[in-house]
Amino acid sequence: MILDLVNKNALVGGSTQGLGWATAVELALLGANVTLIARNEERLQTKVLQLPNSGNQVHNYIVADFSDYTQVESAVGKYLQSFPTFHILINNTGGPAGGTLLDASVESLQKAFSSHVICNQLLTQLLVPGMKTAGYGRIVNIISTSVKSPLEGLGVSNTIRAAVANWSKTLANELGPFGITINNVLPGSINTGRLDSIIRNKAQASGRTEDEIRDQMAKEIPARRIGKPEEFGAVAAFLCTPAASYINGINLPVDGGRLGCL
Ligand SMILES: NC(=O)c1ccc[n+]([C@@H]2O[C@H](COP(=O)([O-])OP(=O)(O)OC[C@H]3O[C@@H](n4cnc5c(N)ncnc54)[C@H](OP(=O)(O)O)[C@@H]3O)[C@@H](O)[C@H]2O)c1
Repeated sequence: MILDLVNKNALVGGSTQGLGWATAVELALLGANVTLIARNEERLQTKVLQLPNSGNQVHNYIVADFSDYTQVESAVGKYLQSFPTFHILINNTGGPAGGTLLDASVESLQKAFSSHVICNQLLTQLLVPGMKTAGYGRIVNIISTSVKSPLEGLGVSNTIRAAVANWSKTLANELGPFGITINNVLPGSINTGRLDSIIRNKAQASGRTEDEIRDQMAKEIPARRIGKPEEFGAVAAFLCTPAASYINGINLPVDGGRLGCL
């Protein structure tokens, strides 16, 4: 089984912490040169130095805000002038704010569509020509199990995640002939800053403690625990390897078995 990503270049969105960071670390451990994207340059400078490096790997970062797709397009477009080929793209950014769908504003839906669908689309359009030339491409979208079963209190997120999943499935058909795969990894409850804020909001809304909410979440998972970021990152990175060449257009939950459907 070939898991080697030496001489492969990876662009990883939303990657100074959480799932993006965990995926970036696993890609670097497999030998890839990793370029991180996030908003906070100081944190990017720190994290890029913490990426595993066998000695010959070149890691870098791009500062861009996914809430402004023109900025993402121009920052990555400029970077590509001197770095034309990324073999791997991890589409990821912070999740939309919580709340019921009925209360959601037009602006919040537009903002989420822009950050998640439009940015994915622009990054894909920018990177696919290089992948085609290289004859190797792996696109992995970090979405959510809400693609398969909507989550309570995440109305905007549920709506937009489904759009990303169908966007991805459509591209799987279009890109398959070029040796490029595109797959979705669906995190359940994984221990990151995003999960902390969801737990905090649930605790405030219900009057229960954060520990009680966390314990309840764990009880609903067959594994009886919240996932570790590296358990997620390993799966996302595997989909980027030569070994995963015949996996295309799937939704892969990483949720300790929590989803109640197949
Ligand atoms: N963790 C879970 O259990 C879980 C479950 C289901 C779905 N998800 C989804 O998976 C994705 C990643 O979640 P996570 O838990 O890793 O989140 P996280 O811990 O909050 O990390 C988010 C990362 O994205 C960057 N980021 C946030 N907003 C950005 C923006 N506008 N532009 C560019 N970078 C941005 C952050 O860095 P900067 O602040 O420096 O920009 C950070 O590196 C989210 O869409 C989340 O909703 C997570």
